[in-house]
Amino acid sequence: MKIKQADYVISAVGPAQYPTEGFPEIALSGRSNVGKSSFINTMLNRRNLVRISEKPGKTQKLNYFIVNGSFYFVDVPGYGYAKVSKKDREAWGRMLEKYFAERQELSAVVHLVDLRHPPSKQDIQMHEFLTYYGHPVITIATKTDKIPKSKFQKHKQIIRRDLGLKPDDPLILFSSFNGMGKEEAWRAIESFLN
Ligand code: GTP
Ligand code: MG
Repeated sequence: MKIKQADYVISAVGPAQYPTEGFPEIALSGRSNVGKSSFINTMLNRRNLVRISEKPGKTQKLNYFIVNGSFYFVDVPGYGYAKVSKKDREAWGRMLEKYFAERQELSAVVHLVDLRHPPSKQDIQMHEFLTYYGHPVITIATKTDKIPKSKFQKHKQIIRRDLGLKPDDPLILFSSFNGMGKEEAWRAIESFLN
């Protein structure tokens, strides 16, 4: 996709702040620190449109970014960061449940996992949750630059098996550091944008 424009729009905590034009939305999901915000920056050829962090738990709200005036990337706070209080975790759960259960404009979810590790219990639960609500899931295994190519195939198979991906379900290898998988990820996303 040719990126003509990409801008931050709003950080939403609930439906009252969601945009109202009815444009399709592509949401990011994945554990905290897996690389969701970096993924958006890489896809949009921008270094710092979305704030990234060494510190997990950075993205706290649903951050909307409008692309080419026609669809949104929605950066969603990650799960699995231990130092979040029980109260904050519950608020996170309610916000996410509402968004994923009710948002009509949600066209597909980009679910990021780390290629280096087998999916966590929470990765598996999130995949089930998204599938339960009927959302198309594009699974992306990121940080490929951190392991040797010789391990890609084996790790890919483990991710497919543990998440219960069907043969036709996408699993794209990606790196925000060297751009691997960017074109393939765009093709997958574009297939849900009409
Ligand atoms: P939260 O907002 O806390 O949920 O995290 P996030 O999923 O948005 O992760 P973020 O994009 O902030 O990245 C977390 C850390 O991982 C940063 O230090 C990034 O530089 C690093 N990172 C992200 N993607 C990649 C990648 O493809 N390769 C490598 N080596 N590091 C990456
Ligand atoms: Mg983030």
